[in-house]
Amino acid sequence: MALLSRIGVSLDSELLDRFDKFIAEKGYDNRSEAFRDLIRDRLVGSAIVTSTAPVVGTVTLIYDHRTRLLPEKLADLQHEHHEVVISTLHAHLDHDTCLEVVVLRGKSRNVQQLADKLISTKGVRHGRLVISSPDTVSPHHHSHH
Ligand code: NI
Repeated sequence: MALLSRIGVSLDSELLDRFDKFIAEKGYDNRSEAFRDLIRDRLVGSAIVTSTAPVVGTVTLIYDHRTRLLPEKLADLQHEHHEVVISTLHAHLDHDTCLEVVVLRGKSRNVQQLADKLISTKGVRHGRLVISSPDTVSPHHHSHH
């Protein structure tokens, strides 16, 4: 049996409120089990193809463009990896909030790495990579053709 490790996680109270509502709706008894399921789901969803397989992906980012240097950092990352970036769509959702969709193409590991860098850039409020391959379809993403 695997050893159990305890970790501490810092969340802002608004995010924690939303998490508690989410787990109540899903019927979880406690936060730990819900947290474990979310982590497992995320890890499985990201491990769909070998690291050199050709894939396409879209990264969706939500952020506040007034966050110091954030638009510049996101643009710099995309220029540094221009061989992976096909196109970027930017929408100004409201006075402060931006939606950016970055279309990527390349080896799975390169697409994944750039997506991780974009999503983990400090100040990005929400980020998500959806990756597709001609050969493999993730069990967590349903395609409708
Ligand atoms: Ni904008």
